[in-house]
Amino acid sequence: MQWLITGCSTGLGLDIARAVLGAGQKCIATSRNSASSPEAVQEIKKLGGVWAKLDVASESLENDLVNIVKEHGPVDVVVNNAGYADGGALESMDLSVARKLFEVNFWGSIRVIQALVPSMRERKSGVIVNISSGTYWSPPPGAAVYAASKFAIEGVSEALAMELSSFNVRVLIAEPGAMKTAFYDPKKLKMPPLADEYKGTAVEYASKMIASMDQTAPQDPKKTAEVIVREVLKPCSDPPVLRLPLGKESLGGARKRVAELTKTADELESIAAACDFEIN
Ligand SMILES: NC(=O)c1ccc[n+]([C@@H]2O[C@H](COP(=O)([O-])OP(=O)(O)OC[C@H]3O[C@@H](n4cnc5c(N)ncnc54)[C@H](OP(=O)(O)O)[C@@H]3O)[C@@H](O)[C@H]2O)c1
Repeated sequence: MQWLITGCSTGLGLDIARAVLGAGQKCIATSRNSASSPEAVQEIKKLGGVWAKLDVASESLENDLVNIVKEHGPVDVVVNNAGYADGGALESMDLSVARKLFEVNFWGSIRVIQALVPSMRERKSGVIVNISSGTYWSPPPGAAVYAASKFAIEGVSEALAMELSSFNVRVLIAEPGAMKTAFYDPKKLKMPPLADEYKGTAVEYASKMIASMDQTAPQDPKKTAEVIVREVLKPCSDPPVLRLPLGKESLGGARKRVAELTKTADELESIAAACDFEIN
C-alpha cells in the first residue's frame, strides 16, 4: 500500500514514515519545507520512500496533492499528522493565533481528507489516520484551543468513519500521550507570559508542566509510530477499532473519562429523562 504522511520533518510523522518503510510499504513523506530537515529527507529516500512538499495551511494544498498523486500514484493510507500547539489562558489568546492553529490542526486535515477520499471511495479501499491526542481525554488548562482542535478532529473522524464504512474506507483516530518530539521545543511551543491574575492557578501549574515536557515527556514516538502502523496493517476487526489511545497517560485519561461519564449518566438519569415527551 502507498502511504502519505503530513508533517514528516521531525517527530511522530518522521517515525511513522520510517515504520511504514520498515514494514515494506510505499511511503510519500511530506513536509512544508524540505530544506529544514535535509537529514530526514535523505534518510527516507535512502529507505526507498519519496519526499514531497506539502504545507497543510497553504492555498495550494489541493493542487499540490493532485500533483503528488499524478507523480506517485494513488494514496491508500493517509496520515494527518501535521500539527502544533500554542499555550496560555484562553482569555488572553489572540484570536488570529487560535484561528491559525485550527487552520493547521483541523482544517488542514479536513482539506487533505476531502482531496483524497473521492479516489479511496471509488476504489472501495483506504485508511484515514487522524493524529489526535491524549488531550482529548484530559484537556489541560492553558491549552484550550489546542485541545479544541483535537476534539474537533475526533468528532469529524467519528462521523466520517460511519460515512465511509459503506465504501470500505476506514478511519482511525490515534491518541498519543506526551511524546519526546520537537513539539515541546520552546522555539515551537509558544507559552506567552502569564497574566498576574492567573498566577497560582491551574493555568500556571499546567503551563509549567507542559513546558517541562521538552525534558520529561514519557512516551517514545518511535514505539508509538510502530503501533499505529501495525494497527493499520493487521487484519481489521469488525467493526474496526476507531480510537487508539497510545501510552499509559492516554489510556489512563480514557478510563478516567469513561468512569466520569458513567457516573454523570447514573446521577442525571431522572433529570435527563424528564425532558422527553410522555409516550403512552
Ligand atoms: N508530542 C506530543 O506530546 C504529542 C501528543 C499528542 C499528539 N501529538 C500530535 O502529534 C502530531 C505530531 O507532532 P509531534 O509530536 O511529532 O511534533 P513535531 O516534532 O513538532 O512535528 C510536527 C510536525 O508538523 C509539521 N507542521 C506544522 N505546521 C505545518 C503545516 N502548516 N504544514 C505541514 N506540516 C506542518 C511540522 O513541520 P515544521 O518542522 O515545518 O514545523 C512537523 O513536521 C501533531 O498533530 C501533534 O498535535 C503530539
